[in-house]
Parts: sequence; C-alpha cells; structure tokens
Amino acid sequence: MNCIIPIVLWAIIITIMRVDSGDDDSLLLNCGASVNEAIDSSGRKWIPDSKFLSTNDSLPSTANSQDPSLPSTVPYMHSRIFQSETTYTFPISPTSRHWLRLHFYPSSYDHFDSASAFFSVSTAGFTLLRNFSASLTAQSLTQAYLITEFTINQLNSPLLHLTFTPLLNFAFINGIEIIPTPEIFPPQPHAYAMQTMFRLNVGGQFFVSDSPDSRTWYDDSPHIYGAGFGLAASADTRVSVAYPSPEFKLIAPLDVYKTARTMGPNSTLNVNYNLTWILDVDANFTYLVRLHFCDFIFGKVNQRVFFVFINNRTVETDADVVAWAGGMGKPVYKDYRVGVGRNGDNQVWLALHPNPESKPQYYDSILNGIEVFKLNDTTGSLAGPNPIPSPNKIATVTHASRSRKSGVVIVLSACVAAAFGVVFIVGFFKHGKTRGSEEGASWIPIYGSWSRSSRSGMISSIGKGLCRHFSLGEMRGATNGFSEACVVGVGGFGKVYRGCIDGNATEVAVKRAHPSSQQGLNEFLNEIELLSKLRHRHLVSLIGACEENNEMILVYDYMANGTLREHLYDDNNNNNDSTITTTTLSWKQRLGICIGAARGIHYLHTVACARPPINPSLPNEQICLADWALMSYRNGGIHEMIDPRIRDDINPKCLEHYIETALSCLSHDSIDRPSMGHVLSCLEYCLKLQIGE
Ligand SMILES: *[C@@H]1O[C@H](CO)[C@@H](O)[C@H](O)[C@H]1NC(C)=O
Ligand SMILES: *[C@@H]1O[C@H](CO)[C@@H](O)[C@H](O)[C@H]1NC(C)=O
Ligand SMILES: *[C@@H]1O[C@H](CO)[C@@H](O)[C@H](O)[C@H]1NC(C)=O
Ligand SMILES: *[C@@H]1O[C@H](CO)[C@@H](O)[C@H](O)[C@H]1NC(C)=O
Ligand SMILES: *[C@@H]1O[C@H](CO)[C@@H](O)[C@H](O)[C@H]1NC(C)=O
Ligand SMILES: *[C@@H]1O[C@H](CO)[C@@H](O)[C@H](O)[C@H]1NC(C)=O
Ligand SMILES: *[C@@H]1O[C@H](CO)[C@@H](O)[C@H](O)[C@H]1NC(C)=O
Repeated sequence: MNCIIPIVLWAIIITIMRVDSGDDDSLLLNCGASVNEAIDSSGRKWIPDSKFLSTNDSLPSTANSQDPSLPSTVPYMHSRIFQSETTYTFPISPTSRHWLRLHFYPSSYDHFDSASAFFSVSTAGFTLLRNFSASLTAQSLTQAYLITEFTINQLNSPLLHLTFTPLLNFAFINGIEIIPTPEIFPPQPHAYAMQTMFRLNVGGQFFVSDSPDSRTWYDDSPHIYGAGFGLAASADTRVSVAYPSPEFKLIAPLDVYKTARTMGPNSTLNVNYNLTWILDVDANFTYLVRLHFCDFIFGKVNQRVFFVFINNRTVETDADVVAWAGGMGKPVYKDYRVGVGRNGDNQVWLALHPNPESKPQYYDSILNGIEVFKLNDTTGSLAGPNPIPSPNKIATVTHASRSRKSGVVIVLSACVAAAFGVVFIVGFFKHGKTRGSEEGASWIPIYGSWSRSSRSGMISSIGKGLCRHFSLGEMRGATNGFSEACVVGVGGFGKVYRGCIDGNATEVAVKRAHPSSQQGLNEFLNEIELLSKLRHRHLVSLIGACEENNEMILVYDYMANGTLREHLYDDNNNNNDSTITTTTLSWKQRLGICIGAARGIHYLHTVACARPPINPSLPNEQICLADWALMSYRNGGIHEMIDPRIRDDINPKCLEHYIETALSCLSHDSIDRPSMGHVLSCLEYCLKLQIGE
C-alpha cells in the first residue's frame, strides 16, 4: 500500500502536467536545465526534465565547452548525469505510436568526461541502447552531437517509462523528444519498436520537415557506392507534384518527391552500371526499407522500367514508377523487409538497374527517397555494438567534424572542402597540442570533377610533362578493386581512394569520377586549372591519370612529402635539427591554399542548389572561422597567433584585409556574413596585396 499510493499519485500528477508541456502529448525536454522554458534555434520550446523523474539521485550539469558545430545551445549545453539506474515516467496517449528522440552531446560535464560513459537505455519491453558510448558513436559519424530516433508503441499504456542504466562510470542525456508518430507504418497486432537508421532525400538536400513531428531528411550522396552518382534532378516548376490523397502527406514531404536521382541520359552507360547505395547497419536485425518514388520527368508507362535489388536479391523486376503511381508527379512508396547479418554482413546494399527486357523507352531508373528502420529482435532489443571509428575517415574529417553543423548522417560532399579549409586554418596559427595530437593525418586538396565533353583535352593539358598514364587494371589493383574500405573521402562528383602502386612502393590517392556526371563543367575546368596552378610539391602532386572504359581517374601522391598539416603545423618542437625538416609554407602559398579552399567551398555551395532552410547542415564558411575566433579569444592577440616562421613576411595591409575578411564571417547573424563568393574575392584581393600587384 505504502508503495502503490505514491505511484498512483505520481501518475495523476504527471497526467495533469501534460497541460503545461505543449500541444497534444508532445514533450521536448531540455535535460538538466532549470529554466522553465528554452527555445532552440528553430523556435521549438523545450521544458526542464526534473518533474518526470521520481528519484533525486541524478545530477543536472552544464557542458564545460560549447562545440561551434552545435546547431543550438538548447538542448545540448545542459545534461543530466545518472550514476545509478534512473527512470523517467512520461504521460503519453496510449493509442498511438511515439517517436522517441534522444539527443547526446558527448562533452565534459564538470568532472564527468562522457568518453568514459557506457550505459543502456530501455523502455518497458524494449532495449533501445546497450553498453552505448555516445562518444564513440559521435566520433564514428564525425560529429559533435548525435540524435537517435526510435518509434515505439506501448499498446494501451498511458505511461512511458524510460530507464538509464550506467554500465561503466555514468549515463547522461541532453535532450528527449516524445512526439506522436503519424500513421505511417502498417498496423501490427503486437507491440514493436524501430530505430530510424537512415532518412535520405535522394538527389536532394538536408532539411527538417515542417510537419509537427519534425522529421529530418539527409543528403544521400555520401552513401552512394563507387563513382556511379547518376544525375540529381529536381522537378521543373511547371510540373505539378501532388499527393494522391490527403493522408499521403504524412508519409513524406513533397520536397522529397520533388528531387530524385536518375542514372543519367546515356542508355549505353546506364545498362553497364548499377546506381547503388550502401548503408551501414547493425548485423543480425531485420530492417524495413522504404523507397519513395515520384517521376516528374516522364509521364507514360514503360518509359523507364528497372530492377530494384536489395542485398543482391531482386525485389522488383519491372519497377515502373508511372505505372505504380498512376501518372507523372504522383508520389508512391514501397516497403521491403530485409534481414541483415546471416552471412556476416552489416550493410544494406540498394541497387537500381534498367531492365532492357521489358523494352522501356529509356534505359534508366529513378529514386526519390530512402528510409531504413531497424526492427526490434525477438528479445525486444534494438541495441547494436558501438561502432569502431574508422581511422581513415576520422583522419580525413577530424577538424571538420568539430566544426560542422550536421545531423545524424554526415554530408561528406562538403567535407572535402571543409576538412581542407579547416586543416589550413588550424595549421596557420600557432596553438597548443590539444587539437593537433588527436589525429594522425590530414586531407589532401583534391576537388573537381570530370566531364565527358572536356576530358580529352584535359588529360593532355594537365598531363603534359608530368603525367603518367595508368590502365584501369592498375587502378583496380591499386585500390583493391575500388574497395569501399579504401575510401578516404567523398565529393559530390566522385570518391577518393587510398591505394598503392608500383608493387606497394608508392602510396597514392586515387580520385575517381563518374563519366556520366555532368555537374558543373565550367566550375570543374576552373578547379582543374586552379589546381594545376596552385599545385606545388609541398602539398600534393599529381602523379598521373587513367582514362579508359569511360573511367576518368586522377592519381596523386599520398603524403609522400608529409601531410599538409605536418607542413603547416610543426609537431616537432625541437625543430632546430635539420635532418627531417619540413619546408615551411610561405604566407603567399598559404593564401593560395586558402583561395583554393574557398573556391572549392564556393563551388560546392553553388553542388548543390539552394541552402537548407534552417542552418544545420553545412555552412562551411563559418566553420574554420568560428574555430579561429575561439582560438583568438583563448590566446589573446591575433598577431601572437600567426606562425612565427612567416610572421615577418606578411604584408601588413594584406594581413589586415585577411583578418577583416575572416572576422566578417563570424557575425552572429547569418545575414551579416559574407557569401563564400565574397570571401573568395576578398582572399584573392589579399593575394594581390601580398604579391604587390
Ligand atoms: C527530492 O528532493 C526534494 C528536495 O530535497 C524533496 O522535497 C523531494 O521530496 C525529493 N523527491 C523525491 C522523490 O525523493
Ligand atoms: C553514351 O556513352 C557511350 C560510351 O561512352 C558513347 O560512345 C556514346 O557516344 C554516348 N552517347 C551519347 C548520346 O552521348
Ligand atoms: C550475428 O549472428 C551470427 C550467427 O548467430 C553470429 O555468428 C554473429 O557473431 C552475430 N553478429 C553480431 C554482430 O552479433
Ligand atoms: C553484393 O554483391 C557485391 C558484389 O558482388 C558484394 O561485394 C557485396 O558484399 C554483396 N552485398 C551483400 C549484402 O551481400
Ligand atoms: C547490379 O546488381 C545486381 C544485384 O546485386 C548484380 O547481379 C548485377 O551484376 C549488378 N550489375 C552491374 C552492372 O553491376
Ligand atoms: C519486438 O519486441 C516485442 C516486445 O518484446 C515482441 O513481442 C516482438 O515479437 C518483437 N518483434 C520481433 C520481430 O521479434
Ligand atoms: C562495451 O563497449 C566497449 C566498446 O565498444 C567494449 O570495449 C566493452 O567490452 C563493452 N562492454 C560490454 C560489457 O559489453
């Protein structure tokens, strides 16, 4: 009796409290915060979490530092720390499913270092996370924070219990969202939980839907296999893209259906490749794969008919979107279940290929959106192992990661530019060991893309005198058959592999572009031109090229002379001894690199149509500069921070202009910040001042 009465009272109290926690039964909790209400950067209201806890043995805490890539201080800067098992109890509507989103910012909270925290999270009947390390997970995604999304139905329970159990040291949480899931999943007789693994706006970009449950859609390009990027397309404004029924609008926003990826215009090329996405998942679970289609280019049946393969199994032989949907501009989706892990695999391969046998008018395929949900196993668990951060990928984007505004899935296309830009900025200043010591390698400045119509001239023009010709076979050999394991970077137009040539004697970076990629011919030509101008032996050198079988590949020296970072940032403090000196880059060279990076970023900004509606994904221009600002505050004067090896060589006017440019990027309001194009012209002006033109 003593026990039951408080619980009943508790239930009554929290049921009454629903009133002040927002509309319907949505709850957004700013865990560990004490203020009554906090608004995040997208205007959503978050309330404190304490009243949903029935015990007092958890600690509210505040992060010791704020990563510049956090999209908002709410809910990330506050956290709740659990040193023993603790349960939240939330009132929910018993009939519907709910999204449960957990926000983690693996930082340090007072003396609690979240890197040492391993914990489990469960809710009645389901294990959501087990022995979970937010820190390892964020690292492997190269992000400062992460959001995990689950959908749960409790079947007739008006309360949702959420339990945090520390396994090693402590558990923590920054934010919790509980929001009704609209009727978008087929009804099941029993309770089940799912975890959202991927929600990709194919051929489009990152955005957060404006539906009440704020689902986030990510760019698909980082998940595309090999160099077969196909062609990103968006609906012509004259084409009406409209839902077939009012209920359909719950399924996905029209913005998802208004962009797509097709294979490209050349049937001959299309029949020779698969448009493939590779999605990393946890082994030994069943996944619900939902594919969203809408053809806004063709309107007749049998114009585009294709196979759909999932994990090398044919799931559709005659996919004809117009036939399925009943016309042009009409959305349709298909669900597939796939078991992963029986053969030791932990990926979902999704591939599209034209089906010539059904004699379509065009050999092509199309896809608009991909969602992948993990279904709970027979024990009610959704927990997978902690990821092992890949050394290659971490090395590539370590700095970018701390400075990027991105969500669950990283958008690698801009990382190439971002990583490069950031590596440069970091290297430019003299600074403590803290940042430099954690990563081993740095990025190489490769960007650009091939285009069919221009390529013949290109190889010869770049190639004169310095270019070695490679066969496709040699390239395959160098990269283990273009193995995904060798990928060190991805751009919107191709992938970069790490490989070995000459019997493993030379480590190379292999940039492979897809021949049917027709993106930004002019921009690309500029990039190549710039690259060949900027290129010098201290950075990275072009070794050769391969042009065979519609493949266009560039081969660069992979850090044979030390990485860019090593050149910029002298790890070895005893640099008096000259046996292994790295050459110091001059100010002029550094400015040149900066321009290259700005140009790359500018180009990427202009890879990709408009900017996301909110800000979260990747305004790279703020990145390095935000880092810079932090460093400058920390260290006091700006002049102090300049690499002493070049300090005296800098033209003061040039430096002044450079600093002004950089500071203008730091304005708090995005409207006050210059465009990347403007930054580029400012930097070019700096270079003129330095050269004395
Ligand atoms: C928590 O602590 C407060 C103040 O110390 C106390 O009034 C309250 O009863 C405690 N609640 C529980 C559930 O122990
Ligand atoms: C399609 O690609 C093939 C192989 O590269 C090429 O021979 C052909 O000319 C291309 N067709 C068109 C229409 O561009
Ligand atoms: C998946 O299941 C197989 C067979 O039961 C087992 O050998 C393998 O270790 C499991 N993989 C993981 C990651 O648990
Ligand atoms: C699908 O086939 C490719 C190539 O044959 C292979 O590398 C890959 O591992 C297969 N994927 C799965 C999930 O079986
Ligand atoms: C496309 O994928 C299917 C299924 O994995 C495979 O059988 C086929 O060989 C692939 N085709 C090409 C051209 O890669
Ligand atoms: C999911 O978990 C529930 C509750 O534990 C269980 O009843 C159900 O069978 C599980 N689903 C599957 C597919 O195992
Ligand atoms: C928890 O995860 C860590 C890192 O993935 C691993 O080293 C450790 O063995 C795991 N502990 C348990 C109890 O599974």
